[in-house]
Amino acid sequence: MLSFSEIQTIGVVGAGQMGNGIAHVAAASGYQVVLTDVSEAALARARDTITKNLARQVKKETLTQAEADATVGRITFTADLAALGQAQLVVEAATENPDLKLRIFRDLCKVVHPDAILASNTSSISITMLASATDRPERFMGMHFMNPVPVMKLVELIRGLATTDETYAVVQAVAEKLGKTTVLGRDMPGFIVNRVLMPYINEAVQALYEGIGSVSDIDTGMKLGTNVPMGPLTLADFIGLDTCLAIMEVLHQGLDYSQQ
Ligand code: CAA
Repeated sequence: MLSFSEIQTIGVVGAGQMGNGIAHVAAASGYQVVLTDVSEAALARARDTITKNLARQVKKETLTQAEADATVGRITFTADLAALGQAQLVVEAATENPDLKLRIFRDLCKVVHPDAILASNTSSISITMLASATDRPERFMGMHFMNPVPVMKLVELIRGLATTDETYAVVQAVAEKLGKTTVLGRDMPGFIVNRVLMPYINEAVQALYEGIGSVSDIDTGMKLGTNVPMGPLTLADFIGLDTCLAIMEVLHQGLDYSQQ
């Protein structure tokens, strides 16, 4: 089993808003990063986003230009999945689609180092189920980052049925090195954050549908009434309505107590 100090290179699968944020914070924390995506265009956008976010920090003088350059320099952007063979920890951050994630994990097992730890940034899908597609369920974890990753302090950790204490300890230590606070959620649909957040967002959509308030009244009401930075409808757009729907489907199927 790899120890925390042996984690030198972090692989990230998927260069979308979560993947590029994970690559950003990992590189900023001193890790070598391999960021992969099937789309060269997504990789180019990820490089652009990371460079722009770092430039903002340089402008605010919270980072030097040399540190920003070194951070981007630690990231390899590549469409070649085999490049993840260099990583000791690989975080999958693809679209919230179970079949896609299962396929990625099956493919990953063919290219990653036999000792590497695999993690999924899934927002809701069963970690035990995803782990079952791999050759290493004992070295598999949920590592759920929040959007925007460079800003949000939380990483929600989820253990699958077979995840060992050693795997959990290494992944938790990596999350802390990335400057994050961790919480441990059970492997149930939506874990902690989305079990609570998505019904809240869904209720805001229902309230809009029922004409209880306008978009602006619902968002302002919740923003000023409960002291959150964004109203639920703005937050739904920020997360992405496709992702919100995918998570709600997982909650709907997994928590349908009438079927039990
Ligand atoms: N990447 C990097 N940094 C960013 C950023 C991004 N995409 N967006 C904003 N920032 C930084 C800004 O540079 C700024 O930094 P400083 O404080 O150092 O100046 C800081 O964040 C605040 O940004 P702004 O002043 O531009 O804007 P704001 O005050 O309105 O904050 C926000 C923007 C941080 C996004 C804030 O509105 C917020 O916290 N919103 C709620 C976000 C949230 O709830 N995220 C969780 C979603 S749920 C999830 O992710 C899980 C899931 O599975 C669905």
